[in-house]
Amino acid sequence: MMSVRHFLDLGDAGSDAIAAMLNDAHDRKAARNGWPKAVPDTDKPLDGFVLAMIFEKNSTRTRVSFDIAMRQLGGSVFILESGTSQLGRGESIADTARVLSRMADAIMIRTDDHAKVEEMARYATVPVINGLTDRSHPCQIVADLLTILEQKKPLPGLEVAWFGDGNNVLHSILEAAGLLKFNVRVATPAGYEPEREFVDTARERGARVELTQDADAAASGADVIVTDTWISMGQANAEEKLAAMAPYQVNEALMARAKPDAIFLHCLPAHVGDEVNEAVFESAQSKVFDEAENRIHGQKSILLWALNKL
Ligand code: CP
Ligand code: NVA
Repeated sequence: MMSVRHFLDLGDAGSDAIAAMLNDAHDRKAARNGWPKAVPDTDKPLDGFVLAMIFEKNSTRTRVSFDIAMRQLGGSVFILESGTSQLGRGESIADTARVLSRMADAIMIRTDDHAKVEEMARYATVPVINGLTDRSHPCQIVADLLTILEQKKPLPGLEVAWFGDGNNVLHSILEAAGLLKFNVRVATPAGYEPEREFVDTARERGARVELTQDADAAASGADVIVTDTWISMGQANAEEKLAAMAPYQVNEALMARAKPDAIFLHCLPAHVGDEVNEAVFESAQSKVFDEAENRIHGQKSILLWALNKL
């Protein structure tokens, strides 16, 4: 029997599968050619399949893009939120995983503690997809890579520069860097660096990862400038943290240090005026809404891989 393909982090798929996902996402996006958004792809590869989505944290893009992705693949979804399901009253992850495995073909979960997603995968007999935890956000990075490739920027040797908080999104970028051989400069205030494990693994796999507190140096000659909220879901809105982050705002001066054709990415939601200023967010270099749309195309390829259709 084939083992179940969970997608808890990018490494679960590996570089070849991620490359296949990116090709598939590109081709499916191109083939739709502006069709109405809920019209299924011609081949309906997930006809009759249903995805369970669990949200223990807020979401706009992840929730909607998985829903539209399943419709375009010919399948459907149902949603459980902690406030209105038995999860919120203490039913265990293990039992929830076993019940949902009888009712759905795959489970997407967004939660706080990454250990919950791992536990879900231990007990589920259908694929479990990490829709964001405090540790990582792998689905986001598939969309980000698709957006970068659409801008005709090949991944090997690409210089990606990250500014601000060393958070879950950065962890997944670092994982992707090791798998797909691009380089990451990380500019954070002291004490807000990414977890060492992600830096070490990326380096072991051959990516160059530079950690610095010098935002200008990190931006110099970069191909892609990325940032994210300074305060992630579940974190305290600390004045001290906001003050430390202020020198890491992405603004015109920082963008001017990057390559002239550099692009700006942000997973959204953005706090314009904090981690990015309005001029950059609204500029032609900003590809944040392509990136958001690409969540649909990325999720489709993740679902197809997880369900052994890719
Ligand atoms: N980028 C992202 O995951 O957005 P949501 O929190 O809206 O899902
Ligand atoms: N780092 C952010 C990403 C939101 C999509 C958070 O975890 O809140």
